[in-house]
Amino acid sequence: MAHLNTHPIYDPAKTYDDNFDNGPFGAFANPVRFVNDGEPRHSFLGFPIYEPFGIPAGPLLNGRYVSAALTKGFDVVVYKTQRTKRFNVNAFPNVLYVDVPGDLTLEKASQPLHGQTTPPADQANLTITNSFGNPSRGPEFWVPDLKDTLQSEGKGQLIISSVVGTIREDASQADYYADFAHAAELAASTGVKAVEINLSCPNVAGEGILCYTPSAVEDIADRVKRAIGDTPLIVKLGYFSKEQDSLLRAVVSNLAPYAAALSVINTIPAPVVDEHGNQALPGQGRLSSGMCGASIKWAGLDLVNRLSELRNKRGYSYEIIGVGGVMTPDDYQEYRMAGADVVQSATGAMWDPELAAKIKRS
Ligand SMILES: Cc1cc2nc3c(=O)[nH]c(=O)nc-3n(C[C@H](O)[C@H](O)[C@H](O)COP(=O)(O)O)c2cc1C
Repeated sequence: MAHLNTHPIYDPAKTYDDNFDNGPFGAFANPVRFVNDGEPRHSFLGFPIYEPFGIPAGPLLNGRYVSAALTKGFDVVVYKTQRTKRFNVNAFPNVLYVDVPGDLTLEKASQPLHGQTTPPADQANLTITNSFGNPSRGPEFWVPDLKDTLQSEGKGQLIISSVVGTIREDASQADYYADFAHAAELAASTGVKAVEINLSCPNVAGEGILCYTPSAVEDIADRVKRAIGDTPLIVKLGYFSKEQDSLLRAVVSNLAPYAAALSVINTIPAPVVDEHGNQALPGQGRLSSGMCGASIKWAGLDLVNRLSELRNKRGYSYEIIGVGGVMTPDDYQEYRMAGADVVQSATGAMWDPELAAKIKRS
């Protein structure tokens, strides 16, 4: 049993703004550097990489977090998803621990789960829900911050910028899709080497989640790619169940001309309640929120396996970023074996900031 670290880089007991302004915390707050030696032996999107491991969009709230992650040896890191305008964070709390014994199957995720502020004792049982709503301080803040942060990208390391479109009142679906392209263009203007779009978000026309709508996915990818030119595009997708396999094939076929890499998976949504059975996170539309950590590894691995198989069968050239429940060096290896070119950990890395160093030493 690996005891859970009590000093994560993001403190769930503090507000998002407090974490944003005063973090990172825990081991990320100390400047002791992991030194990569020798030459980078891997590559991703054509860039040399020491270890194809890092942190996906989310835990790295701003440039200070990104720089700290690079210092600790995470070589492929994503600056948290940003927007073309300032956008407020959802009401506090934004992170709760969720009690999930074993795998969070889709069956289990359809039933209310118990959210709490007390962490589990063991890292292997660490599942959390996060519900931020993709806050952004607006391009006035993040564009110059990201530009400055690119200075801390060392040899064999890669910083990725993640963006999302914003649904505005009275705006059309086309305006929403165009806003993805505008956000991606702002990201590329910083000189960042790769741009990621988060498609695990609602569609303006109420057709559900964008990544499950092949025409929306293609329209957005086309607009974004025209806006960022030669900068490689990464597309982040949610989990596709076995029943959604033909939908997955349609989405991948539509993305193949545009995406240099696919990143899977985002969180798995589930209803979260408190000890009295009431909605745990305050506010409209927040009964269901995204689950991440140890219990979703099965789903990330499954989708990486299927995308890898599809790539071989159809001769696609996209690279695969495997995300979901990576808590240990063994989990990292499992994803690599499944076909992931790069592996990233959000929850695992937040509570184990030495995870990259452990992987490199193992
Ligand atoms: C605190 C936190 C914030 C997140 N924010 C984002 C985000 O801004 N954009 C995004 O695409 N995914 C976001 N995610 C999802 C992660 O990138 C990842 O897909 C998910 O957490 C599964 O990985 P894990 O099991 O390693 O946590 C966030 C996750 C966490 C834990």
